Order: sequence, then C-alpha cells, then structure tokens
Amino acid sequence: MKEGKDTGSLHSGKLRSSFSGKVGYVLAVAGSAVGLGNIWRFPYLAAKYGGGIFLLVYLILMLTFGYALIISETAIGRMTKRSPVGAFGAFGKSFPFRFGGWVNAVIPMLIVPYYSVIGGWVVKYLFEYLRGSTEALAEDDYFSGFISNGVSAEIWFLLFSLMVVAVLFAGVKQGVERVSKVMMPLLVILAVFVAGYSMTRPGAWEGVKYFLIPNLDNFSWMTVVAAMGQMFYSLSIAMGILYTYGSYIKKDVDIEKSTGQVEIFDTAIAMLAGLMIIPAVFAFSGGDPDTLKAGPSLMFITIPKVFASMGFGTGAGIMFFLLVLLAALTSAISLAESGVSTFEDQLGWNRHKATLLMGAIIVLFGSASALGFGVLDFVSVLGMTILDFFDFLTNSLLMPFAALSTCLLITRVIGLDRIAKEIEQSSDFKRKKMYCFFMKFLAPVCIVIILLSSIASVFGWISM
Ligand code: PHE
Repeated sequence: MKEGKDTGSLHSGKLRSSFSGKVGYVLAVAGSAVGLGNIWRFPYLAAKYGGGIFLLVYLILMLTFGYALIISETAIGRMTKRSPVGAFGAFGKSFPFRFGGWVNAVIPMLIVPYYSVIGGWVVKYLFEYLRGSTEALAEDDYFSGFISNGVSAEIWFLLFSLMVVAVLFAGVKQGVERVSKVMMPLLVILAVFVAGYSMTRPGAWEGVKYFLIPNLDNFSWMTVVAAMGQMFYSLSIAMGILYTYGSYIKKDVDIEKSTGQVEIFDTAIAMLAGLMIIPAVFAFSGGDPDTLKAGPSLMFITIPKVFASMGFGTGAGIMFFLLVLLAALTSAISLAESGVSTFEDQLGWNRHKATLLMGAIIVLFGSASALGFGVLDFVSVLGMTILDFFDFLTNSLLMPFAALSTCLLITRVIGLDRIAKEIEQSSDFKRKKMYCFFMKFLAPVCIVIILLSSIASVFGWISM
C-alpha cells in the first residue's frame, strides 16, 4: 500500500493509507455523512419539533457551529495523523486527554447497534416490497405490529448486522465505496422524484409550508437541543469519525472547501427527505399532531402510504428501500469500522478479534434496542424505550461532551493559531476570523445549553 494510492481502506493499519485526492475525500465523508440520519431521523425530528423553525435553527447551527467543528476535527486528524484516542494522546497523557479521546471513540460503538436495528427495519420493508406487500405495508398498524413482534424485529436486525460485520471481515471497503458512488446520485434522483410526487398530493401543501416556513409559535428549547444533536449525528461530528478521516488526507486537500461541499450535500439530502415525508403526513393524515410526533416510526408509516397511492408503488418501494439500505450500510460500516480501528490501535488486537468484539457489542446492545418494542417493552430507561435511550445518550449527552473536549483541546492546548496554520497549508483560510469566534464563544455556549437542557429533560424539568 503506497501513500497516495487510493486504497479505499479507512482503518488505521500499520501503514496509514490516504485518499486519492479531493474528490475521493469528499465522497468518502459524504458517504459516511449521508445515511439514516438524513432520511429517517431528520424528517421525524423536523416534524416533531416545529417544522420550519426547526429547519431554520438547524441551518444556522450547521453553518456556524457545525462548520467550525468539522474543520477542527479534520485539521487535528490531519495534523496528528491519528484517530481520536491517539490524537488526544498526542497532546498529553493525563486523564482529561485520555477521557476526551475515549468519549469521541466510544460514541460510534454505542450508535452502531441501534443504527443496525433501524437498518433491520429497512431490510424488512425492502423484503416486503419485493414480495409485493405494498398495500399491507400502508396499513395503519403494520409498523407497530412488526416492531412489537420481538422475534421478527430481532431477526431483521441480525440480518443487517451480519451484512455490516461481513463487510468488516472481508475488508471490502473499496467495493462498498464504489457502490456508493453510483448509489448516491441515484438516491438523489429518486428522492427528487418522490418528493415531487408527495408534495403534489391533495392537502400536501400545508406540509410543505409547515416544513419550510418558520413559525415562532412552534419554537421550544427542545427545538434547539434536537437540532444540535441532529447536526452532530448527520454530519458525523463529535464521534471521532472526522479525526480518523482527516488523518487520511494529504496536505493539498482544501479543508475549508471540502467541508462546505459535504455540508451542502448532506443538507440537500436531508431536506429532500423532509419534503418526501412531511407533506405526506399532511396529505394522508391532515397533519394530525399525533402522527407528526410519531418519532422514529414516521418514515415507515408515511412513505408506504405514498407508494401505495402511486400506480407503480411496488417498484418505487423496492428502489427507495434499496437505496436507503445502501446509504445505511455505508454509514453503519464506517461507524463500526471506527470502533474496530480503535480496538486495533488501543488494545493492540488483530483485525479479526477486534471485529468479533465489535460484532458482539452490536448484537448485545442492538438486541436490547430491537426487543425494547416487544418482549422488553416493560423496560423503560428514564421514560424512554431502549432504542430512544441510546439515541438520547449518544446525541444529547455524549456528543456534546465530545464536542466540548475538542473545543477545549483546541482553545486551551493546541491553540487556534496552530489549527489555522494547518488549514492554511492547503488554502488561505477565508473564514478564519469567523472560525475563531465560533470556537471561542459560540461553541462553548451552545454546548453548555445542550448539556443543561438534556440534563433538565432527564429530570423532567423540561419535556422532550
Ligand atoms: N451521519 C450518519 C447518518 O446521517 C451517521 C453516521 C455517523 C455515520 C457517524 C457514520 C459515522 O446517518
């Protein structure tokens, strides 16, 4: 493996591989960023937390706070050539450094199990469309019936996990990336088409307005908290991924520009997904507040109704869930890969053993999440189902901590100047002043807000 050749391998082995160049890097980050977060998670949060006002808060946060954090993580990765635990360790060995590195590294390990549960739901829907169950899937209780049947949710989850672990074992990352280069554009085309169809259903226009026009009456603190968590999630920030990816790029990649491109791509897909799903909620249920607040099940409830009302719904369903599955797989693989490389680097294990451990973690936590809607439905953690709890734990508690650790590392230890120098090696850092301001003031304030709000919601002082 020579430096400079696109090996496509993202794990940190003895020889650190690198991306072929700017395009390869942007595509790899976009492939990791675009996943269930955009298509499944963003629309249900937007529907639940105020529509247009959620979108507005999300966009502002992404362009400011998110932008600064992507740049920071990528620059530290490139500077130290290490993934998070090693990168933090490069600056100090005391407890805060170790803690900062590990918080970043543990998050993907906690996300990938429940991510795979949703992945399993996608596989199930794909399978049902292939069997032609288009009408049945569109029935009101189909989804709740499916997830509360513990055995079937568990089996589909295991199937998805098996695909992820199989790819990790085979190490055919390159193949996956090639596939995703073709699939991503296809996903965009299909999304534009479905969104167009969904928006033109009778009654759907109210949904378009709800999603795009901010209404202050719908604002609540949780709008900000949810938007911030979603921003981390969707852009793969605050979970060590971008450190690792940054460590694979060479000094000629314009970090500022590629960050912008990734943000545009990721947001475009999320907005398209919003335009597919939210107008459909209005067309098929008249914007019923209960459906709007359906949460994780929203995509699985509304999209089948859209397809059932189309002439060629079965074909559309197959295409849609196939593409979502591929987007989910590429993201799940990059999440799990990050766990595997942490085990390899930090425990000195070989890839085989590291993959087995990651697989065991997925099966253990994932099964708990999958069964949380069925046989384990009596278990509630802080008033949440197990899956919701993992989502909350990672997005609302751990990621702010991870982001905070990155901010502190930069402002207290590395220094904003050194980060700026790193960026300036490949381009003149146009938004340097803005970046410094965000890192010094905006980011800490945002992080404190999200942490306090999350803690307050745990104690029931504010409601999610
Ligand atoms: N950003 C991905 C999504 O939106 C989730 C993810 C996070 C994937 C981190 C990889 C790494 O679905």
